[in-house]
Amino acid sequence: MRSLIVYASEHGTTEKAVRILCRYLSGEVDVWCLKKGEPYPNIEPYDLVIIGGSIYAGLIQRQVTRFIEIHRKALRNKRVALFLCCILEGSQANHQFERAFPSYLRNQSIANGLFGGELIYSQLSMLKQLMVSNMLGINKDVLQIDLNAIYVFAEHCK
Ligand SMILES: Cc1cc2nc3c(=O)[nH]c(=O)nc-3n(C[C@H](O)[C@H](O)[C@H](O)COP(=O)(O)O)c2cc1C
Repeated sequence: MRSLIVYASEHGTTEKAVRILCRYLSGEVDVWCLKKGEPYPNIEPYDLVIIGGSIYAGLIQRQVTRFIEIHRKALRNKRVALFLCCILEGSQANHQFERAFPSYLRNQSIANGLFGGELIYSQLSMLKQLMVSNMLGINKDVLQIDLNAIYVFAEHCK
């Protein structure tokens, strides 16, 4: 089986989660990081397309949304799996997941993953520190990548 992981990452957490995911997946796995202004990958050769990103102010990166829009037709005939990195948990994380990915994709997805997140508060700009303390009530570093969630997700992808 040939899989493609397409993701976006602002501060590197999603990238870290993708590296962990690669260790758990079987078969041939290619990885594509979506960056602003750069081209999108061709998904045609792949049996499985795994799409992920992280949440900022309630939203997934625009590059991820755009990738999904551009490949809407091709994605309908693919095995797809979806994941998110974010700090909020439980129903709030689920709500963010629902906003991040269109319902047709969520319904056809073979695995939906919430991988937790990391927020290195001490390294953020003052503006971002203000944002996260107001929006998320966080004022210290948080390291909570959910290894088990990544493992379970990878098992569903097999
Ligand atoms: C400015 C800012 C806003 C954020 N907003 C949210 C949010 O609305 N909900 C959430 O669950 N996490 C939020 N986060 C946490 C990120 O989703 C988390 O740090 C994630 O691990 C980042 O992944 P990345 O480094 O791959 O981009 C925010 C983080 C920052 C710095």
